[in-house]
Amino acid sequence: MNNAYELAVAHCRVPDAYSADGFRLNYPRRAQFVRAYSWAIPNAAAIQALVVLSPLIEIGAGTGYWAKLVADAGGVIVAFDVVPPGSKLPLGYRQRCLHYPVFIGDHEKLRAHPDRALFLCWPPYNDPMAANCLREFSGVRFAYVGEWDGGCCGGEDFWDLVGEGWDVEYEIALEQWDGMHDAFYILLRRSAPRVRIDHGTSWHEWAEALQERNPT
Ligand SMILES: C[S@@+](CC[C@H](N)C(=O)[O-])C[C@H]1O[C@@H](n2cnc3c(N)ncnc32)[C@H](O)[C@@H]1O
Repeated sequence: MNNAYELAVAHCRVPDAYSADGFRLNYPRRAQFVRAYSWAIPNAAAIQALVVLSPLIEIGAGTGYWAKLVADAGGVIVAFDVVPPGSKLPLGYRQRCLHYPVFIGDHEKLRAHPDRALFLCWPPYNDPMAANCLREFSGVRFAYVGEWDGGCCGGEDFWDLVGEGWDVEYEIALEQWDGMHDAFYILLRRSAPRVRIDHGTSWHEWAEALQERNPT
């Protein structure tokens, strides 16, 4: 059950968010949510799309909240993070809760799971982690949640790699905290055969088309 969704929707927008008062109200709410759940607000459509892409390997999974929702919805997912919450390692990201088994590991874990689609959610900003994952990943589709190029996710190398070799196949809008510009994306390797997506295609139409014409 996605308790975080209702919680976030009730709190993610404040009046005059860009004023000093708005910021003072919004920032701690978001920080609490991030520590307990995720940098992004998962919704049912995004979770269903991940289930369609599964089996998955998530790198940088934090609390494992997205992974838990995917598993609850019938998907298969293994989650890794260099500093899972509760590990004895220094806490770089200050997340406190653990909702799903998150094992210690980085992009190198992709080698042991070549049959799984990659999932990245808010990969660290200005950091090689996301690019390393993409270089290691050999599949044709990966799921990405975060801000787009120019935002606060991933490093320049990652966005160069995306620009050179990947296209957005499907996008799902997420609820956003004030000031955030994140969304859910499925990216398709440019050399791979594509599923025709029309504007307004629902996630289940996309999923059907994907399964019929273009298995992962
Ligand atoms: C901004 S947080 C996002 C966490 C989680 N995906 C979420 O949405 O709540 C970035 C996460 O990436 C992890 N991370 C940083 N560098 C990593 C690496 N090289 N390999 C795996 N995880 C890494 C951090 O420990 C942190 O949990």
